[in-house]
Amino acid sequence: MNVVILAAGQGKRMRSDLPKVLHRLAGKPLLGHVLDTARETGAAKICVVYGHGGEQVRAALDAPDLTWALQEPQLGTGHAVLQAMPGAVSSASTLVLYGDVPLIRASTLRRLIKAAGVDSLALLTAHLDNPQGYGRIVRADGLVTRIVEEKDADDAEKAIREINTGILVAPAAALARWLPTLGNRNAQGEYYLTDIVALAVAEGMPVVTAHPDEAWETEGINSKAQLAMLERVYQRNVAERLMETGATLADPARIDVRGELVCGRDAAIDVNCVFEGRVELADCVTIGANCVLKNCRIGSGARIAPFCHIEDAVVGAGGIIGPYARLRPGTELGREVHVGNFVEVKNSSIADHSKANHLAYIGDATIGSRVNVGAGTITCNYDGANKHRTVIEDDAFIGSDTQLVAPVTVGRGATLGAGTTLTRDAPPDQLTVSRAKQLSIPGWKRPVKKKKD
Ligand code: UD1
Ligand code: MG
Repeated sequence: MNVVILAAGQGKRMRSDLPKVLHRLAGKPLLGHVLDTARETGAAKICVVYGHGGEQVRAALDAPDLTWALQEPQLGTGHAVLQAMPGAVSSASTLVLYGDVPLIRASTLRRLIKAAGVDSLALLTAHLDNPQGYGRIVRADGLVTRIVEEKDADDAEKAIREINTGILVAPAAALARWLPTLGNRNAQGEYYLTDIVALAVAEGMPVVTAHPDEAWETEGINSKAQLAMLERVYQRNVAERLMETGATLADPARIDVRGELVCGRDAAIDVNCVFEGRVELADCVTIGANCVLKNCRIGSGARIAPFCHIEDAVVGAGGIIGPYARLRPGTELGREVHVGNFVEVKNSSIADHSKANHLAYIGDATIGSRVNVGAGTITCNYDGANKHRTVIEDDAFIGSDTQLVAPVTVGRGATLGAGTTLTRDAPPDQLTVSRAKQLSIPGWKRPVKKKKD
């Protein structure tokens, strides 16, 4: 199967410097959605017809299974498909997709491909209450005879409610025969791909139709408003799938998944959370309101309180995180670890049952089990040139407002007094404290404000 994706149109109505097909839906470029669906149908050869701003499109999405055909100038959809013909396998069929129709589903395409067989022209059509703007499917005695574009249609044709979605499958050899013969004597002065229908009929080739399961599958994006509308459609579908698999959503209209979210049974997600990349929530995880989670795994029963930001991190089973915690890349938390408000963790592991509950920075650290990290503790991991590690062994107790100047190790069971600036290793099981001696000065008087003359 050859796949041709039309993506040369300018997309003026987006009013944007970014080529239309690079605008993102659920965090992925529109064209990326179409490419992934094409791959899902098992397409071996995919050709993208590009034009305006095309180099940027190519740089963003190039892959080994793609070829790129430049269409310059853009003389219509028939002319666009013609540009893709040189690389096509002539013994196979060709599926035509649009780069700005991102939500088409593989199941629909498979039905269309099946309808086409090896020697028919298959059109994906739909019946719309308001068909305005689309090409209309003209039938005689029930059989498709041609497609007429809105701008070329008479009143009777405009009344037809069966429309051309633009997606079709045709034998590649037939396309190679037809496309060079297309004319452009029509209302728009363009080479219409849709004119191949009449050519197929003239040759006696069967023209068949298939329909999408859902109307939104074939909706195209021409404006920011349409982009936002299809984003909502996509997110609603994701939310429904999550609920079907056992997740509890406080409000299916207030979740955004920009990647892949896998939820265990009874995982519960409060409103306004954003999930990016691949996120796994095990059974019974709860995510509070307004969290952003990217590429992370949250173990069973863990509780993420509101307003947390978690990226490239692992939270173990039974963890309690936040509110207002930030877990940065390379964070690995064991079982039942507590990371509280205004605590930042980066490139660090914290083993089972340890706690850092308030206002701390833990960077490049290895922390053992049952460690208590007091409020205001900071790992001084960066000397201005290099990063160094802090090691805190099992059962250590780090007093509040401690600075650990890395590289440094706190031995097993050690206690650091509050306010310590640790610059050398703290031995196990001892109290280590660095602190100016406390003084009280008898008879000391507060200064008083001088009187103005
Ligand atoms: C086309 C169909 C119409 C159908 C409608 C569905 C034709 C002649 N008409 O009309 O029957 O109902 O889509 O949305 O095919 N493109 C190129 N190069 C070009 C022209 C277009 O790559 O020279 C691409 C566009 O980027 C877009 C797609 O082809 O992705 C469709 O182009 P568009 O101008 O939207 O076609 P319509 O006039 O809407
Ligand atoms: Mg269009």
